[in-house]
Amino acid sequence: MSEDSPLSSWRHLPIAQQPSYSDAERLDAVEAQLRALPPLVFAQEIRDLKDQLAQVARGDGFLLQGGDCAESFSEFSADKIRDTFKVLLQMAIVLTFAGRRPVTKIARMAGQFAKPRSADFEEIDGETLPSFRGDIINAADAEAHARAPDPERMLKAYHQSASTLNLLRAFAQGGLADLHQVHRWNLSFVEANPARERYQEMSERIADALEFMEVCGINSQTAPTIRETQLFTSHEALLLNYEEALTRIDSFTGKRYNCSAHFVWIGERTRQLDHAHVEFFRQIENPVGVKIGPGVAADELLRLIEALNPANEPGRLTLITRLGADRLDAVLPGLVRSVAAAGAEVVWSCDPMHGNTVKSSTGFKTRQFDDILRELRAFFAVHRAEGSYPGGIHLEMTGEHVTECTGGAYRISDSDLATRYLTSCDPRLNADQVLELAYLIADALRDARPAAKAD
Ligand code: PEP
Ligand code: CO
Repeated sequence: MSEDSPLSSWRHLPIAQQPSYSDAERLDAVEAQLRALPPLVFAQEIRDLKDQLAQVARGDGFLLQGGDCAESFSEFSADKIRDTFKVLLQMAIVLTFAGRRPVTKIARMAGQFAKPRSADFEEIDGETLPSFRGDIINAADAEAHARAPDPERMLKAYHQSASTLNLLRAFAQGGLADLHQVHRWNLSFVEANPARERYQEMSERIADALEFMEVCGINSQTAPTIRETQLFTSHEALLLNYEEALTRIDSFTGKRYNCSAHFVWIGERTRQLDHAHVEFFRQIENPVGVKIGPGVAADELLRLIEALNPANEPGRLTLITRLGADRLDAVLPGLVRSVAAAGAEVVWSCDPMHGNTVKSSTGFKTRQFDDILRELRAFFAVHRAEGSYPGGIHLEMTGEHVTECTGGAYRISDSDLATRYLTSCDPRLNADQVLELAYLIADALRDARPAAKAD
């Protein structure tokens, strides 16, 4: 790609949160190899997702986005992919039933490797080391040579993403997504759960609905929608060398799509208007997200919306607020009003994770289940009060039985965190906690109204 291509225009701008590669030739060679590799997803799938998100923006759908904070090279297995896939589907069935709307599922998977960090360096046992920036950039081991950014890691991330996608596609089409099957998993979750009486009634109603459809002849044999699903992929497009190399011109429309994932987002720390990430995102057609923290000013948000979605195309832009349970009520109403007054078409999604990170008394970075639930409920309440539509949720979660967030029906305490604290970055909800959340926000979802239309 020539330096003058619009796709490379980001290279002339300031950029935050990047590695500094010592071998520029090696970096160029890796980018060239990536450019020659097949795309991971197809443009038509990306357009399908954009259409679904346009429906969400109108209030006719709901977005569920979730997965690891960071995928890792060492914790990579079919079981892990399967378990996260399963729990996303289990959650989706509950949300679909509760909200009476189709749920668009986007995994934070098959590319979620690069991490922004609060500091460029960290001190470990008296030694100052460059921070770990995710497996696509450097290794987490506390040694200087491991922390040196290595461009070859982009190729490994690409191949791991390709294998992950391959399995996700097989699961989605090959029987694992059958609604009856997914509902059976939910029944086992409910039966085993200490708070089962909270969830039982809805589970029974879902079972009745499935049975009724079965009697009417709508079953796995007759209806592909019962048997199959569609799962999209996403990640924070932080490492632009990788993202640019996987961006392709679609032969059908002549437009540019970032084919590293269906959906990409800009993080809270790289969304400066005059910086490289916003510029790069302006060049691609994908549906995109931007994380919004509590420090955002309304006019800054409007300029960001204008930069990222100048044609005001519904489905193009998802605002992922991560305000914190204590700040949401003070911040969100003003943002919602400004966006509505500007007539901007956006999907509002809630990330209840990143504004609620605390340090436990036992020294772990954690999040409390009740804070996560509180932020979600406040998100739904504000949108209800403002006449806007709460379109989605964005979670850091895993299908594994980890102990990284405290609380939930199993009452994970600070002293339990050490038992199975496996994340390679931020603390994730485990399978039980994620499903509990789905059941606990069901009422709010049912009461959500489509966005009020301007006359
Ligand atoms: C993330 O989603 O893992 C992340 C770093 O989020 P944010 O940009 O909101 O801090
Ligand atoms: Co995170």
